[in-house]
Amino acid sequence: MRKLLLIALTAISTQAIAQVTNDGKMKIFVDALMKKMTLDEKIGQLNLPGAGDITTGQASNSNIAGQIREGKVGGLFNIKSVEKIRDVQRVAVEQSRLKIPLIFGMDVIHGYQTVFPIPLGLSCTWDMQAIERSARIAAIEASADGINWTFSPMVDISRDPRWGRVSEGNGEDPFLASAIAKAMVQGYQGKDLGAANTIMSCVKHYALYGAAEAGRDYNTTDMSRMRMYNDYFPPYKAAVDAGVGSVMASFNEVDGIPATANKWLMTDVLRKQWGFKGFVVTDYTGINEMVDHGLGNLQTVSSLALKAGIDMDMVGEGFLTTLKKSLQEGKVTLAQIDAACRRILEAKYKLGLFADPYRYCNEQRSKTEIFTTAPRNEARKIAAESFVLLKNQANTLPIRKSGTIALIGPLADAKENMPGTWSVAADFSKAIPVLQGLKEVAGDKAKILYAKGSNLVADSTYEKNATMFGKTLHRDQRSNEEMLREALAVANQSDVIVAALGESSEMSGESSSRTELGIPDVQQQLLKELLKTGKPVVLVLFTGRPLTLEWEEKNVPAILNVWFGGSEAGYAVADVLFGDVNPSGKLTATFPRNVGQVPIYYAHKNTGRPLAEGKWFEKFRSNYLDVPNDPLYPFGFGLSYSQFTYSDIKLSAASFRPGQSITASVTLTNNSKVAGKEVVQLYIRDLVGSVTRPVKELKGFEKVELKAGESRTVSFTINAETLKFYNYDLKYVAEPGDFNVFIGGNSRDVKEASFKLQ
Ligand code: NOJ
Repeated sequence: MRKLLLIALTAISTQAIAQVTNDGKMKIFVDALMKKMTLDEKIGQLNLPGAGDITTGQASNSNIAGQIREGKVGGLFNIKSVEKIRDVQRVAVEQSRLKIPLIFGMDVIHGYQTVFPIPLGLSCTWDMQAIERSARIAAIEASADGINWTFSPMVDISRDPRWGRVSEGNGEDPFLASAIAKAMVQGYQGKDLGAANTIMSCVKHYALYGAAEAGRDYNTTDMSRMRMYNDYFPPYKAAVDAGVGSVMASFNEVDGIPATANKWLMTDVLRKQWGFKGFVVTDYTGINEMVDHGLGNLQTVSSLALKAGIDMDMVGEGFLTTLKKSLQEGKVTLAQIDAACRRILEAKYKLGLFADPYRYCNEQRSKTEIFTTAPRNEARKIAAESFVLLKNQANTLPIRKSGTIALIGPLADAKENMPGTWSVAADFSKAIPVLQGLKEVAGDKAKILYAKGSNLVADSTYEKNATMFGKTLHRDQRSNEEMLREALAVANQSDVIVAALGESSEMSGESSSRTELGIPDVQQQLLKELLKTGKPVVLVLFTGRPLTLEWEEKNVPAILNVWFGGSEAGYAVADVLFGDVNPSGKLTATFPRNVGQVPIYYAHKNTGRPLAEGKWFEKFRSNYLDVPNDPLYPFGFGLSYSQFTYSDIKLSAASFRPGQSITASVTLTNNSKVAGKEVVQLYIRDLVGSVTRPVKELKGFEKVELKAGESRTVSFTINAETLKFYNYDLKYVAEPGDFNVFIGGNSRDVKEASFKLQ
């Protein structure tokens, strides 16, 4: 034991010493470089333009090349291909005075060319290893194509599905989202950021972007600091704790000051409290937008951003065009400009760009390491794990690989829509739609018939806005009646109907807020007509957000929520429909009954007038006249082809003191004939606090695989750390007293026990 301890201590100190030596070397290098830099060159490093008009082989003729030669560019983003990146890097390191390499960023948020499910879908796997692997593969592919910096993970907590960007995050829960933030950062950055196949991660959008009022993108946010610290900050902090190299500021205001100019947020919390050492980049024109926020002209807002702790200006050129003047007028200091410049140079140093500016420009790798078989198979597996089975009446699913299957709906043969929002490096022509997936997986065992059935939505302008960036659904010019007629003819020849309906991929994501969250009009009509045939109908639901599905829940026998599964989506859908893969995804965002319930989330407070459980309405209680309080599908919910049962909770002790711990265990049994996976979830309620506490908070989870008939004990450790929260003084404390502990397969259906912290 002593020997082990010694070895561990030696290892720690060797690592620590190596870190100190590296930091020391970096400091010497950056100091020397900065001594040579003019003020303009320093300000140039803070500038991050978009790639603009660069075409292969033409980098030196592009508009941006002139600026790069003059040392006015620190990096570029969303430029794709190793050839172009090498060309541009050449301009920087061969034609600029100080030859400082550029950093190349991209929105690689759920895979590069091998695309994984949208982040909301990924989060529903509850599988941290799979999520880390997805980020690792994304980093390998992106770095093989010249990219060394990704604007991911996006970890904005959101409890409002009207906001389109819920698709890019990990849902409503800070505990789960923190675990995911860590997994993603580790996946991208690996153990050695200087290795050629790891990339720097940028956690975004700091902070509170997911709490936009009314779910309208870019809208105002306003909340108490206690809520920030307990519910919205944890995932950003988890990314910082995992060593994330950079942070992106959000567009919204925080406590009356836009995040981009918010010194409390950027310096006091991020750097002083959390110890963040990397650099902060704005979001796209985040500085300029503060003119519209009403904080002053471009010069004023640029100096506010720098003083708040922003280091890099994405696109808007506020820093580039005004900081020199602000320095002359005494509005900013040279030390502030130096600090920002130093952080950008340090990032480049950590990525190994000074040692080799072409480290990420390996044409050979770009040919052999992108969109290859093993990662694609991995993406297919992970996609299947992200699907959430919402309903499966009388074992409608899985369907047999036999007879005739009618595949109907505007999302059934929609290649371009499979990768999902923010899939900037995807090759849509190679994405697998459901039609292809079903045909290939069924082989010659079943006949697959197809009809589009309807457009996305009746209104063509709406459809145009919801199918941008080449993600067209090829709007059909036929009348609704004609399309329906064709669909019914196909349906009537089949044994089972698979209806691929829902949102297009650009109906969620940035600037895609919705006020009405149902399946769109013409698709609803199609679904109703398909049900009238009397054949079994399986709804394969595409969506980037929780939808309102009350009617569907009542009337459709089976609902499989497939989000946007990535480049291999169609195969994964077929794997689950045919039962080759048993679904195991669990919701990470509550599905409301209707939009009026929004914001709705499981970890709510009790209020002084809670409604008794199981009741719909009682006068003078906190409830609605027209719908019950509870959601349609709760957080953590998801069915399986297996049936799992939970024993009562066993506690190792009924109380403990700080410094001690107890375990809470259940025996999970797979009471079915099929092997399956279950996400066992642990929730805790702090019954009496110095401030009000949520009715339940996720504090642990484990995904377990059980064979048919198998039982397993699943145990969770509970200690004072598990019970901590930020109190009124924003101190992180565990308060002695009584707690309830819940364990179950979702946040609603749980076993319960109690314990005490002494
Ligand atoms: C704006 C988005 O808000 C952000 O998420 C993204 O990283 C940047 N644009 C760059 O594309």
